[in-house]
Amino acid sequence: MEQLGQYTINNEKKAGLTTNQGLKMAEDEFSLKAGVRGPTLMEDFHFREKMTHFDHERIPERVVHARGVGAHGVFQLYESLADYTKADFLTNPSKTTPVFVRFSTVQGSRGSSDTVRDVRGFATKFYTDEGNFDLVGNNMPVFFIQDAIKFPDFVHAVKPEPHNEIPQGASAHDTFWDFIGQNSESAHMIMWHMSDRAIPRSLRMMEGFGVHTFRLVNADGQAHFVKFHWKPALGVHSLVWDEAQRIAGKNPDFHRQDLYEAIEKGDYPEWELGLQLIPEEDEHSFDFDILDPTKLWPEEEVPVKLVGKMTLNRNVDNFFAETEQVAFHPGHVVPGIDFSNDPLLQGRLFSYTDTQLSRLGGPNFHQIPINQPVCPFHNNQRDGMHQMTIHHGQTSYHRNGLNGNQPETVPADQGGYEHYQEKIDGRKIRGRSESFHDFYSQAKLFYNSLTSHEQQHIKDAFSFELGKCKSDMVKANAISLINHIDRQLAEGVAANIGAPVPEENYEVQSAKVSPALS
Ligand code: HEM
Repeated sequence: MEQLGQYTINNEKKAGLTTNQGLKMAEDEFSLKAGVRGPTLMEDFHFREKMTHFDHERIPERVVHARGVGAHGVFQLYESLADYTKADFLTNPSKTTPVFVRFSTVQGSRGSSDTVRDVRGFATKFYTDEGNFDLVGNNMPVFFIQDAIKFPDFVHAVKPEPHNEIPQGASAHDTFWDFIGQNSESAHMIMWHMSDRAIPRSLRMMEGFGVHTFRLVNADGQAHFVKFHWKPALGVHSLVWDEAQRIAGKNPDFHRQDLYEAIEKGDYPEWELGLQLIPEEDEHSFDFDILDPTKLWPEEEVPVKLVGKMTLNRNVDNFFAETEQVAFHPGHVVPGIDFSNDPLLQGRLFSYTDTQLSRLGGPNFHQIPINQPVCPFHNNQRDGMHQMTIHHGQTSYHRNGLNGNQPETVPADQGGYEHYQEKIDGRKIRGRSESFHDFYSQAKLFYNSLTSHEQQHIKDAFSFELGKCKSDMVKANAISLINHIDRQLAEGVAANIGAPVPEENYEVQSAKVSPALS
């Protein structure tokens, strides 16, 4: 990867071992002592430097998606998409765009196991000549919630419970299922989560989805809504649950090892990039809201157009420097790609930089080699923790009279980014649009599209997971949610875990104590 090359350092023997100040050291195995059996001396700067650096080797893991594996590769466009977008990497088939992909699980910590039942992250950084475009997606096409303000609640429910940090690495617990039972909007996603999609056989055999609706804008200013897809050349394949559990015990690195070894032996994994496109004027032509991230766009209604191929062809040289320090952000876009008003996406646009400021130690993490664009970047930002650049000159502000060489903005027709001028007219409110209220139709469609053995796997998964919950109320609420999707499935799960099947008019229960009484 060209942007990394200049920073690569080989620990070559011939250079000799030095301190970080460049001082050659004559000894690296014994600390400086007052007599061979005496105490270590404070003046041993070499010992102190070596130990201090070691003491600070760990950085915080990602608040979600902590466990991941990354690889480099290339993206090749098939033919120009100029009718839809002005993005250079999507209009110029003669260009090969370098990419970096990080796959991840969502719930577990950095040291958790690869084959647990979970959503998989599928994040791609395209190093385009116009700046980095990040497609920060998952291996499932929808999400648990509709509004970003619920994300901290959702993740608190998913993560190990706060009082005892149990359970690690699996979703089978009361807080997770309580959240699902209390939030009917998660009905569609929970069906994907209980399906075989949540236990992929290999990362090379997973689809990827941008989930949100984005916008493509062409050079004439015409817009299409778009959903992004990755289609794996090897097809979609899953483990079965028993297999997944055994592998988790025997080889927690199963997926990362599979990816690493395939790339090492030249068996490069490939995905085709697919686009679903809806002209802006057709925004309201569907029986669901195209901004709702709990809904997919049925491929029979909006076909996926395959537009290019991504090949992962190089493993990282250093896991920490690359896979751990990479910073993806759904707000990293290039001219010709813009956002929609999906309320989940809108919140993500804030969250990623914010979390990376603390995870990667201040505002200069874009200077970490894996995060740098291949095109130059200049602006008037300065200073900050871990500043790696020596900026020259007296001025660091836009529109100054002293320095003619100060970076200037670039007009849109010469490649400057311009936001799509969508007309917005509405009242400031908190709430959910009526058009977001159908929680069950697509969950039913998904379940009904499965073969009988896939449906059996879903029943087994619900039974395994809910069977581990302690609270009868949590189980009843969850089975009631399933009941809205499929009566037989709800009956089957209830029978398996010895719980009653709720009535059709069951109302979600809660042990909440009124704030006035508590
Ligand atoms: C990682 C927030 C929804 C995909 C993260 C991280 C945060 C976050 C804070 C850690 C980033 C880091 O430390 O670098 C949110 C919020 C969401 C949301 C606030 C909803 C409001 C989603 C959705 C998807 C997604 C819907 C999929 C479309 C990912 C992926 C990563 C990630 C793939 C891992 C990136 C990597 O490999 O470094 N998210 N997320 N997230 N998120 Fe989200």
